[in-house]
Amino acid sequence: MINREEKEKLLNQKSVVIWMTGLSGSGKTTLAESIEKELFSKGYFVQLLDGDNVRSGVNKNLGFSEQDREENIRRIAEISVLFINSGVICLNCFISPTQKIRQMARDIIGSENFIEIFLNATLEICEKRDVKGFYKKAREGYISNFTGIESPYEIPVNPDLDINTETLSIEEATEKCMAVILQRVKHF
Ligand code: ADX
Repeated sequence: MINREEKEKLLNQKSVVIWMTGLSGSGKTTLAESIEKELFSKGYFVQLLDGDNVRSGVNKNLGFSEQDREENIRRIAEISVLFINSGVICLNCFISPTQKIRQMARDIIGSENFIEIFLNATLEICEKRDVKGFYKKAREGYISNFTGIESPYEIPVNPDLDINTETLSIEEATEKCMAVILQRVKHF
């Protein structure tokens, strides 16, 4: 069998999981797409996972109860392990709202493979942005258990990066993340 190190060598990179956590509307996917572009232009091979490509397919039988969110994140963490074992950098964007859920992901993936990025934006700002119109629907009672409204979001205790998307531009945020990520993905 060809092992992870050999695959990383072929791809000329070290594989890691970049885990973005934050409220809906905090900018996870926007920032991840910008980071992916930047990494790609430098020759890195990345797979982006978010609600759009995971909850619509492999996790389409899951909702937003505490139990379902836990199963959502458990499967995503296991999928991420498959990617990094193939040498691929995995860029994940999920609310992953609780300390317990993020710890589970970290335990499955391994701390040494895990970069946690907190997209720091207040509920007030995310709700004002309301990109998908979900906050309004949640306030009107059409969506239950919405994170930040009827369901908790616990601030990460010790993330590798705390990115304030209220004050930083997308370029600044990308640059800050790239500085940390490049240290971890460079193949020497
Ligand atoms: S997680 O809590 O299990 O990590 P995940 O990141 O996969 O959540 O999905 C969040 C996305 O699903 C949100 O950005 C939003 O578009 C949509 N969504 C639909 N219902 C809810 C809800 N009740 N709470 C949070 N997000 C929801």
